[in-house]
Parts: sequence; structure tokens; C-alpha cells
Amino acid sequence: MNNKELVAAAIFQITQEQLTKEEILNLLETPKFANHGDVAFPVFSLAKLYRKAPQKIAEELVQAIDEGPFEKVNAVGSYVNFYMDKQMVSSNVLSQVLKEGSHFGDSQVGNNENVTVDMSSPNIAKPISMGHLRSTVIGNSISLIMEKIGYCSIRINHLGDWGTQFGKLIVAYREWGTEEKVRQEPINELLRLYVKFHEEAENDSRLEDEARAWFKRLEEDDPAAINLWEWFRSASLTEFDKIYNMLEVTFDSTNGEAFYNDKMDEVITLLEEKNLLKEDKGAEIVDLSAYDLNPAMIRKSDGATLYITRDLAAALYRKRNYHFAKSLYVVGNEQSIHFKQLKAVLKELGFEWSDDMVHIAFGLITQGGKKLSTRKGKIVLLEEVLNEATAAALAQINEKNPDLPNKEEVAHQVGVGAVIFHDLKNDRLNTFDFELEEVVRFEGETGPYVQYTYARAMTLLRKAQFSIDSAANYALADEDSWEMIKLIQSYPEIVLQAAEQYEPSVLAKHSIRLAQAFNRYYAHTKILAADPYRESRLALVFAAATILKESLRLLGVHAPSQM
Ligand code: ARG
Repeated sequence: MNNKELVAAAIFQITQEQLTKEEILNLLETPKFANHGDVAFPVFSLAKLYRKAPQKIAEELVQAIDEGPFEKVNAVGSYVNFYMDKQMVSSNVLSQVLKEGSHFGDSQVGNNENVTVDMSSPNIAKPISMGHLRSTVIGNSISLIMEKIGYCSIRINHLGDWGTQFGKLIVAYREWGTEEKVRQEPINELLRLYVKFHEEAENDSRLEDEARAWFKRLEEDDPAAINLWEWFRSASLTEFDKIYNMLEVTFDSTNGEAFYNDKMDEVITLLEEKNLLKEDKGAEIVDLSAYDLNPAMIRKSDGATLYITRDLAAALYRKRNYHFAKSLYVVGNEQSIHFKQLKAVLKELGFEWSDDMVHIAFGLITQGGKKLSTRKGKIVLLEEVLNEATAAALAQINEKNPDLPNKEEVAHQVGVGAVIFHDLKNDRLNTFDFELEEVVRFEGETGPYVQYTYARAMTLLRKAQFSIDSAANYALADEDSWEMIKLIQSYPEIVLQAAEQYEPSVLAKHSIRLAQAFNRYYAHTKILAADPYRESRLALVFAAATILKESLRLLGVHAPSQM
């Protein structure tokens, strides 16, 4: 039982079922100031039931409460403040964390059911952008968090490898490209060709027609078109893989949009059967006015399918093949209408499971307050960012700890971890500015700070030669350790909260708070002093380190044991 549950049980026992345990639990608060206790109960609802002044009720409650798990219970105005028995709580928490290790906070909420996580999903022949970085790291973290609470995550990279733009790219390549240049630096060259197409097409409408014709050939499996497309795709994937390797993110499927080329007829048939397709200037649309949404265009007047047509086929495919309990889409906020339309069309088709689809939106990354865009070729190259972050980390290590073994590897873990952590520590819907210097700082609320704290704790434990004694009763009753103990105790709830809200930042923020609490403890307490509490203090350090490491893991960040 956690603190609130213990308090609720005690109140329930003496209020003779005036309120249910659930109701009491919902009323309980966490006082803003630690000197007001650990849990507070506002008695207003009881005052109404008993028809007595709240202050009086608070005092009577204090009298009646069985000390049991509390060190102290007092009445302040209309509140009853509960101070937990530190000895008891710390002993329970520490023994549990030491026993369960990194599994502390695991649960079976997910019942082994599948969750599909549509994540990363960059567009081939274009550089992977900061937006795709966000999708990759948020998606990866959410996959890990869902696994921690008992789901099976299926990571899907829904590559943007289909659509009319590939007709344009083929035309551009045939007009102005050379094989050699594309081989040398595929993405840059393909991007240059794509940009050139748009410039030239402004004065030459023939180009657009040709592009349409080439996309048609692609859709019809014409070998000349398919060969070029396959080459562009595999060359792009090779580039993307460099980044995925740096981030250590893997996928269970890289079925992109093209995979659904032969699966869209079923969607059209289903829509026709339900009489949902309406003609509009030669195009076919689904009316969504009942949902307050613009119509979804399913097929253009030239017969070409669209992004949403492929997403409809993908949703059916995922339900059928993965039997998902939830289907998550980690995609920028700017696509929120698209996902509303997608769900609405599926709902119209009678698929109740469309309610299990969740668009996990996130905000933009800006630079100097401005949006980063690939259209004009103005892009921040992710690979460069990761390399620069690693170099900055190495410089810091050289300054602080030049004799560290495997410096390069640690620098990589710190640099890449810094970029990931920076992305995950803010509420995902926030827009945030990207400044490299800000990201790789070792102080402040950064990834390196949490990593550094973990390494510090591990160094201390090594020095003290701490090892877990399963027969020992580790317990601490002092004020200084209490903050950490409460943060550790709340961890399972934090994990659940992060999962419910699909919000890795909940974990990132908790890890920052725990790291700060540890560093305060480290500064104020003689942890290694030879007194009867030494082993318990070390057990506390061990528990904190265990949780810092696990939080970093759930964010997709390494925790080097020396830094
Ligand atoms: N490729 C798209 C883009 O870069 C994102 C795809 C998201 N996933 C999806 N199933 N629509 O904008």
C-alpha cells in the first residue's frame, strides 16, 4: 500500500463508511510544503455529512486515528495532516527496490496485448528532419513504457515512400540527375533534384504532367519506374539507418506507404458498399460534416490515391495482423486533422476499434524561434547534430575526467543521450527551441546531469564496496533521506502516469527531481560515516541509482557507470 492508501484505510476505518475508500482516496492531497506532512485530508465533505464544524471534525479525527503507520497526525484548520512512519515506509520501499531491481514499477496492466506504435516515418529521398527525430525518440520511449506495464509494442516505421512526389523525382532524375551523384550522396542529391523540379515546374507545366504520368507508371508496376523507385528507397534507408543506429532504435516493420499500394482496392470497395463515396469534381470523397471535419479525399480525379487512402489500408492491415489493443501514431501536431479524418472514416465504415487509435501529437522544434523546413532545402541535419553533441560531450570528459576508460563510447552515450533527453523532458505538445549548447550542458535539467548523477552514485557504491544483504532490514528515519524515499516510492505511479498520458516527460521530470534530491543528500549527509545507518544509506543510494538507470532506459538513454 502506498501512503495515500494507508491514510485512506485509516480514515475509512473510523468514519464508518460515510465515504467509500475510493472517495476518500480521491479527496487526499499532497501538501505543498514538506513540514505539513506527507498526506493531507480536507474534511469538508465529512462536515456536510456530520453537520459539524470542519475544525471540530478534524480534531475528532485526529483523536480517533490509530497511530499505526503514522509518526504523527495533527489537525490544522479543516485539514488533517498525516506524517508517515519513516522507518516503516523506508524499510518497505528499500526492500522492494533492492529485491526487484530494474523491475520495480513493472506491471501487468497491458495483459500482454499488442500496441502498434507508428513512429519515425520519414519520407524517402529527403533528409530525416528534427520532426522525425521527435517522432522516433518519443515513439521509442512510449514503446518501452508500454512494455514496462505489460504490453507488447510493435514499432512500425511507416515510411513515406509513395505518392505523386515520386513521379516528380523520377522526372527530375531523368532530366538533370546522374547515377554517380546519387550514389555519392543520395539524400542531398535527391533533395536537390526535387527542389529543382519545383523551380523549373513554375515555368514549364509539361513537367507536372510528366510527373503524373510517371507516378501512374509506378502505381501500375512499370519496371523502369519501379527500378528507380527501389533504388531511391534503399539508398535513403541506408542513410536513415545510420541515424537509427546512433539512436539505437529498431523497428519491427518498415512497411511504408508503398506497401499498401495493392491493399487500397479493399478500402474503396468497403466505402462503396456502404455508399460513403461521393463524387466531387471528378474526385471521390467521404463527407465528414457530421464530425465537423472537411471531406476526406480518397481518390483524385486522375484516379491517384492519397496519403489518407494508404493510412486507411494500413489501419485495416494492422488490426487484422496485429490485433492491437491500441494503435498509436506518433506524428506532429500539424497532422491532427488528418488523424481525425482517418478515425472518422473508419467509424463511418462501422469499425468500432477506431476508438483505440490515438494520435500522439507533438509540437515543433524551432531554431531561433523559426520553423525548420525541408521544402526550401533549409534543414538541420540530424546526423550533424548527433555528431556535434558527441564531440561536445567528449570535450567535457577530457576536461573533467581525462583518464576515463572507453572515453569515446561514453561520449557517444552522453552526446546522443543529451539530444534524446532534451527532446523528452518537455511536455510533448510544447514547441521548443533547439540550441546545441543548451542541450549538451552538464548542469541544469539535462540528460548529462542525470547520467552524471547516476555515475556518481555508482562510484560511491563501488568505493564503499556495497553489496545487497538479503537478510538485512534497511531503514532510515531521518529528514534528509525522506525526500528521496518518497520519490522512489512514487515511481510505479509515475510509470503508470507516463503510460496513461503517453508522456515520457513525466519520467524525465521525475528523474531530474530524483537526481537533484540525490545531489542534495550527497552534499549534506556523510553517507559513508561508520555508524549503524551506513548500510541503509548505501541501500538508499543503490535504490536511487537503480531508478535513475531504469528511467533513462525507458527514455532510450544509456547510463554509463563512470563518467
Ligand atoms: N511520412 C509522414 C511525414 O513525414 C509521416 C507519416 C506518419 N504516419 C502515418 N501513418 N501517417 O509527414
